[in-house]
Amino acid sequence: MGGRTCGAMRVQVGIVGAGPAGLLLAQLLHLAGIESVIIENRSRAYCESRVRAGLIEQGSVDLLVASGVGERMGREGLVHDGNALRFDGRSHRIDFLGLVGKRITIYGQQEIVKDMIAVRLAGGGRIDFEVDDVTLHDLTSERPAIRYRDAGGAPQELVCDFIAGCDGFHGISRPTIPDGVLTAFDRIYPFSWLGILSESPPLSHELLYVLHERGFALFTMRSNSISRLYLQVDADEDIDAWPDERIWAELHARLEGAEPAPPLREGPVLQKGITPMRSYVVEPMQFGRLFLAGDAAHIVPPTGAKGMNLAFADVNVLARALGAFYAGGSTSALDAYSATCLRRVWKAERFSWWMTSMLHRYPKRTPFEQRLQMAELDYVTSSRAGAESLAENYVGLPLE
Ligand code: FAD
Ligand code: DHB
Repeated sequence: MGGRTCGAMRVQVGIVGAGPAGLLLAQLLHLAGIESVIIENRSRAYCESRVRAGLIEQGSVDLLVASGVGERMGREGLVHDGNALRFDGRSHRIDFLGLVGKRITIYGQQEIVKDMIAVRLAGGGRIDFEVDDVTLHDLTSERPAIRYRDAGGAPQELVCDFIAGCDGFHGISRPTIPDGVLTAFDRIYPFSWLGILSESPPLSHELLYVLHERGFALFTMRSNSISRLYLQVDADEDIDAWPDERIWAELHARLEGAEPAPPLREGPVLQKGITPMRSYVVEPMQFGRLFLAGDAAHIVPPTGAKGMNLAFADVNVLARALGAFYAGGSTSALDAYSATCLRRVWKAERFSWWMTSMLHRYPKRTPFEQRLQMAELDYVTSSRAGAESLAENYVGLPLE
């Protein structure tokens, strides 16, 4: 400990992780008059530049706006009324607005993170970045604690009423829970996504999901001059095997269908990376006074863009439950936290698994299974009931 003094501080809620879940929770608690401190092991610059999600459900948009962090999103976000699925070389539009009366917004996760950090700090909130050696203690007591080293290396302790584990899939909160408490449900898919951010104008006004004989591809965007493009690649693929020319060649092959359409425009690649595809849920999402939220408790394969939206939905439930506790001492909403969240989580798990199954090439599928996959796509794009079910889930099921 280098002889430095240990700072101990009391706070109502200690939050581990300054991703979408932790930041929105801190803001919702602040609006309810509940104090929190966020600790984050990365730097502010790193959190603000991590390129990930981009599709925001209408319920998430409404929640962000109501929380006072949606102002720039309202100005810069791109609002979409539909998307398209392409298979057998032909595109089929899904009209969300016409089918279910809702829209989605395209706005980068790192922009939301920037906005939430700025609002939190301007409101007097505390976020300790670049912390190290984070450990959680006394989780089944009424005074659970978080210990860590701050950016200067000094040991710190936060003595809390509650701890929110919002530290993502690779964080420490979930693994701190003793063996035997959690049940994990897991599925690993036989492929990954290679994603790039490119300085090039959008291929189309709306998102395009493509099943091609060479594999899945997704066209999406971040603005009118920045495209985001994804390709299905092998599960064990190495990004070094994918120089830009190879990525563009594959994108051209998969995204330029048989139908007449404007060609895909190339541009400088600003970022690229490979994401494994996995479904994972733990039950329950709570141990004593530690509540898991977002990727710390569950992940989905990215097809259909549910991850960040689920993180927002969890902390919406948690903030209300904590609000009820501090307003009147009732723990019933906190006791129901896990069951309340899991109902929505499993529906998003189902949807993400279904979208993934319908839109990817599976190396080991039998000819029978391949025919079923094409029938599924045909049904969803030709039946109003099929399209409506896709649209209802895609724009987001209602929040609690
Ligand atoms: P995270 O964003 O992972 O945040 C956790 C935070 O905790 C991080 O800042 C991390 O640094 C910090 N942390 C970790 N360990 C510690 C520790 N020990 N101590 C302190 N801090 C710690 N979702 C969508 O909804 N829509 C999309 O369009 C979409 N597209 C995606 C595309 C890709 C390529 C990927 C990879 C994901 C996508 N997702 C999408 C998923 C989405 O990005 C995640 O679900 C979301 O980031 C979850 O937020 P979170 O706050 O729970 O976790
Ligand atoms: C994005 C990511 C997704 O996984 C998806 O289904 C739609 C959009 C995106 O990054 O914009």
